[in-house]
Amino acid sequence: MTGEGPHAPPPRGSLHPEGADLAWGGPAPDRKAPEVEPLRTTLPEGLVNLADHEAYARTVLSPQADAYFNGGAANEFTLRENVLAWQRIALLPRVLQPMAGAHTRVDLLGRTLAHPILVAPMAYQRLAHPHGEMATALAAAVLGTGLVLSTQASTPLEDVARLVLAESARGPLWFQLYLQADRGFTRELVQRAETAGYEALMLTVDAPVNGARDRERRAGFTLPPGISAINLRGLREPDPVALRPGQSALFDDLMTHAPTWDDVAWLRSITRLPVLLKGITHPADARLAVDAGAAGLIVSNHGGRTLDTVPRNRHSESPGPGRHCGDGGSSRPAWVDECGCRRRRACVATPA
Ligand SMILES: Cc1cc2nc3c(=O)[nH]c(=O)nc-3n(C[C@H](O)[C@H](O)[C@H](O)COP(=O)(O)O)c2cc1C
Repeated sequence: MTGEGPHAPPPRGSLHPEGADLAWGGPAPDRKAPEVEPLRTTLPEGLVNLADHEAYARTVLSPQADAYFNGGAANEFTLRENVLAWQRIALLPRVLQPMAGAHTRVDLLGRTLAHPILVAPMAYQRLAHPHGEMATALAAAVLGTGLVLSTQASTPLEDVARLVLAESARGPLWFQLYLQADRGFTRELVQRAETAGYEALMLTVDAPVNGARDRERRAGFTLPPGISAINLRGLREPDPVALRPGQSALFDDLMTHAPTWDDVAWLRSITRLPVLLKGITHPADARLAVDAGAAGLIVSNHGGRTLDTVPRNRHSESPGPGRHCGDGGSSRPAWVDECGCRRRRACVATPA
């Protein structure tokens, strides 16, 4: 139900903390090992900036995966606006200033980072390459960039943590949480993330149900065999509610599992990790988040993937009190400059 569909009901079975059915851990007996191309040591010729990578990706992704990675909700007004909003901002440089001692360091949740960039949570990265989240995590660690692993990652969260925790230059390692209808399962997932060494939880609050992704539907996107939200394995779909006449399948059934402020308090009570809230855009919600003890906010409209016509990210102003990170339209270089300039602590980016 939650977040980054399409989300076939997860296979039944017990929670499988090691989730050893991926390219990295070895294939499950019922699956063919994916063809893994040798690791590249150089970039394909002609790739210079993020737009080049984006164009290149389109030549190697299937049309369905392309629709998944690049599509937004409905008519994609918000998706386009996120990018256009950055293009409208002009940088006004000051010149002839001494620059010795300048740096990009930033303090975030008790750590000093070399620069203020974290990779945003993105589900199902093995759709793009068999190494999926492992490759992203390694690249991020080598560059001193933080990584936020999605609940709907296609790689076991323990494998990613084991790969990068020992990297000396790495940035923060956080786990993005979609609260599941089964709160017992959610608690176990949180405990797994804690045990594995994740340093913060990023609770996504703007995607209680899947976005209506028209582009994906046109392309006929479904998850191919062998790729799943592996960390949700064993999760049972909630039993449907017997609706009385006049009750709504959306509000009186599906949405009864959506997180509320009470769940934020519950989550804080079951974890020792700091809890950040991702998907805050309204100033009143920013105030509630601070009152609820959130360790930080991610000012985000989910890249326009969940609800179309949500205003573009308010990168020119802070939504209110608290520590902020931001995302949206992040494939433009000026984005990082702007985030740094505008009281944001960090930028959460989705690589092209
Ligand atoms: C392919 C893809 C998968 C995503 N999966 C998740 C996810 O699992 N959880 C989540 O909170 N956000 C998810 N997001 C949203 C991003 O974390 C981020 O909020 C958004 O992409 C920011 O917009 P930008 O890509 O324009 O910078 C996903 C985004 C993309 C593009």
